[in-house]
Amino acid sequence: MNIISVCSFKGGTAKTSIALNLGALLAKENNRVLVVDFDAQANLTAGLNFDPDNYDSMAAVLQDRKKISDVILKNVIDGLDLIPADTWLERVEVTGSLASDRYSHEKLKKSLEPLDYDIIIIDTPPSLCWLTESALIAATDVLVCTTPEFYSIKGLQRLSYFMHYIAERHPFHLIGVIISFWNMRGKHNKDFIKVIEQTFPGKLLQTKVRRDIAISEAAILGKPVFQVRPKSRATEDFQNLNREILTKMSSGLTPEKACLN
Ligand SMILES: Nc1ncnc2c1ncn2[C@@H]1O[C@H](COP(=O)(O)OP(=O)(O)OP(=O)(O)O)[C@@H](O)[C@H]1O
Ligand SMILES: [Mg+2]
Repeated sequence: MNIISVCSFKGGTAKTSIALNLGALLAKENNRVLVVDFDAQANLTAGLNFDPDNYDSMAAVLQDRKKISDVILKNVIDGLDLIPADTWLERVEVTGSLASDRYSHEKLKKSLEPLDYDIIIIDTPPSLCWLTESALIAATDVLVCTTPEFYSIKGLQRLSYFMHYIAERHPFHLIGVIISFWNMRGKHNKDFIKVIEQTFPGKLLQTKVRRDIAISEAAILGKPVFQVRPKSRATEDFQNLNREILTKMSSGLTPEKACLN
């Protein structure tokens, strides 16, 4: 089972859009897929047309109030399961039984272990907080999201230190860095690509997700973009990203092979 954590140290780098659309495409290709909304903003939950106020999240599982099977929403779109988020995820680590648990960071990994999926995708918040750290510890694979903007690139360097620190004890495989909101004619494209190559050498994915309003239109309708605008640029880009990720995902990860390789 591959567990992909989708991360960045900046808001609005398309983590949620990528988690949702990749999950939906992988499910469409007959993979058994679970997406976990691990961000109290609950955008992934809303983006799949569920009201976060009406459901339990991973917070209830991490605090031993619910079994994981009780919080999984089955088949939210063909073949795709969802664990929704709610505001309880915010500061969950200082609440209830987690507050006194020295190994609270490892609880997500342990909670996901008994599940039987081909792929689990975890959407994380835009900060290097307890939730993101837990998601990296749980991950077999990590996808880093960025945009071609100066602040986004700076965030990459901070994220890189953070990932190295965690990978020393909890190895994972870095699938790569995906740039969204890509403008092929961007004046500073070469500079951005250079910084990414310096920060994560050899890890920039070939696929770029171009700017396309179809992505937010689909999210408003609570659907993946291929269902709403099958002929859009976004659908084409997500399909290419899906293919590239499948070829780069880890299999039979060993600690020697892992660790940001
Ligand atoms: N390639 C794109 N072109 C145009 N709009 C996009 C693209 N990707 C995402 N968006 C839109 O940009 C906004 C931010 O995207 P998204 O929520 O996926 O980012 P995020 O990294 O998850 O944000 P946060 O850090 O707040 O969780 C959303 O409204 C989304 O619909
Ligand atoms: Mg998000």
